[in-house]
Amino acid sequence: MNQKVIGVVGLQWGDEGKGKLVHRLSSQVDYIARFNGGNNAGHTIVRDGKQYIFHLLPSGLLHRHTKGIIGAGTVINPEVLCHEIDVINQTVQTLQNKLFISSRAHLIFPWHIWQDQLAEKQRSNPIGTTNRGNGPAYTDKVSRDNIRIGEMSYLDYFLEHLSRKIDEAFAWYKLIAGDHAVALPLKETILSDYARFATQLSPYITDDSILIQSLLANQQTLLLEGAQGALLDLDHGTYPYVTSSSTTIGGACTGLGIPPQAISRVVGITKAYITRVGEGPFPTEIPGALGEVIRKKGGEYGATTGRPRRCGWLDLPLLKQTIRWNGVTELSIMKLDVLDELEEIPVCTEYASDLIQGERLPTFELEWKSVKPIYTTLPGWKTSLSAVRKFEDLPSQARAYIDFIEKRMSVPVTTISVGPDDKETIVR
Ligand code: GDP
Ligand code: IMO
Ligand code: MG
Repeated sequence: MNQKVIGVVGLQWGDEGKGKLVHRLSSQVDYIARFNGGNNAGHTIVRDGKQYIFHLLPSGLLHRHTKGIIGAGTVINPEVLCHEIDVINQTVQTLQNKLFISSRAHLIFPWHIWQDQLAEKQRSNPIGTTNRGNGPAYTDKVSRDNIRIGEMSYLDYFLEHLSRKIDEAFAWYKLIAGDHAVALPLKETILSDYARFATQLSPYITDDSILIQSLLANQQTLLLEGAQGALLDLDHGTYPYVTSSSTTIGGACTGLGIPPQAISRVVGITKAYITRVGEGPFPTEIPGALGEVIRKKGGEYGATTGRPRRCGWLDLPLLKQTIRWNGVTELSIMKLDVLDELEEIPVCTEYASDLIQGERLPTFELEWKSVKPIYTTLPGWKTSLSAVRKFEDLPSQARAYIDFIEKRMSVPVTTISVGPDDKETIVR
C-alpha cells in the first residue's frame, strides 16, 4: 500500500491557513488534489511578498514540479476556474499536462447562484453562505439533477443537455421566485458562455480515477487539500450552519476515490485562536473591542467574500473532536503572531452546560445556547514572533502556549506559523 498520501484538513470553521501550509508541503509532493467544495473556498499563499488566492485550483501549483487534481467531490464554477487557470498560465507556468479535472466533478450553473441568494433571503435564520451556489449545486447532484463537467468534452451533447437543463431550471425558478423573479440571463447567453468554458476546460478534463489509482500503485506522493474546516462538515459540523460537502478526511476518500488505508499522514490545521465567517454557534467568540483588535491584527476578512470574520479564543473541546474525526497524526498551529500583543490569553478547556454532559458536543441550537466555555488563562509573550524560525527561540510563554495545546490534544505540533509569508514558519 502506498505510504505517501498526506491529508491536510482544517480543524475549525475554515480559514485556518490551509493555503499557506499546503503550498509549503507541496514543495515535496508529485500531485496535490482538492477533494471537496468549490469556490466558496479561498486559500491564501504569500510567497516573496506576493499574495495569491486560490479558490478552485489546488494551492500547490506555484511549484513548477507539482501537478494538480480537482476531484470528483468538488463543484466547479467554470468561469471562476477558467479565470484562475488563465492567471497561473500567464504569470507562473502553463498548466497543460499539469492540471487534471475529474470528469465526475459537478458544474455550478447561474441558477445555483440565484438559488443560493434567494434561499438566504427566505431563511428565518440565514446561514451566511458565500452565495457562490455551492449548496444548490450539491443539492442538484444529490437529487441526481445536475450535469457533470466531463460532458463538456462532448460539446454538442453537452449543449443539448444544457439546453434542456436551462428550460427545467428556468421553469423551477419562475415557480419558486414568482413575482420576485429577477431578470434571468438569456438562455442563449448561458449556452454561449458555457460553450466557451467547455472549450477552455476540455484539455484538462480527465478520468481521474485511472490517474489516482496509477499514482497509488506507483508510490507517487499525493497531497489531499481539504477546503473549509471540520466544523463546517455537512454531517459532523454545526448543522445547519455548515457547508454542503464532507470537509473531513473521509471526504478525501469519497471525493477522490481512494481507500482510507492509503492515507498514512493527516495534518490538522488550527489557528492559535479561532474564527468563523457566517452565522452559527460560536461559544468562545470575543465580543467588542478585543475581538476587533484580533480581527485587525490577523487580517480576519474573508478571502472569498471580504466579510469580517468573527474571532474567538482557542476552543479545545471542539479541537479535540475535530482531531478525532480526522485521525489527525500531527498538528499545525497557525497565526501565533496574531496574539503577540496580548497580556494574557484565555484558552477554553471545557464546557459547562445543564443540557450536555462530559465530552459530548452540543448538537442542536438549544444545546449550543446552553454552553458556557471554561477558560484557563495563559500568560502572553508581549513581543513580536515574526522573525523566529526555531522553536527553541520562541519566548518561554509562547512555547508554553504550544506545549499546553500539544499535551491536551495528545498530538505532536510539527509546524508553527508566525506570519503570512511562506518563510515565516517554524518546523519542529
Ligand atoms: P485557508 O482558507 O485555510 O487557506 O486560509 P485563508 O487564506 O482564508 O486565511 C488565512 C489568512 O491568514 C490569509 O490571509 C493568510 O495569508 C494569513 N496567514 C496564514 N498564516 C499566517 C500566520 O501565521 N500569521 C499571520 N499573521 N497570517 C497568516
Ligand atoms: P476555506 O476553504 C470559511 C462558510 C460560509 C457559511 C457556510 C456555508 O477558505 O476555509 P457555503 O457557501 O459553503 O454554502 O457557506 O460555510 N464557508 C467558509 N468559511 N472558509 C471557507 O473556506 C468557507 N467555505 C464556506 O461562510 O458560513
Ligand atoms: Mg479561506
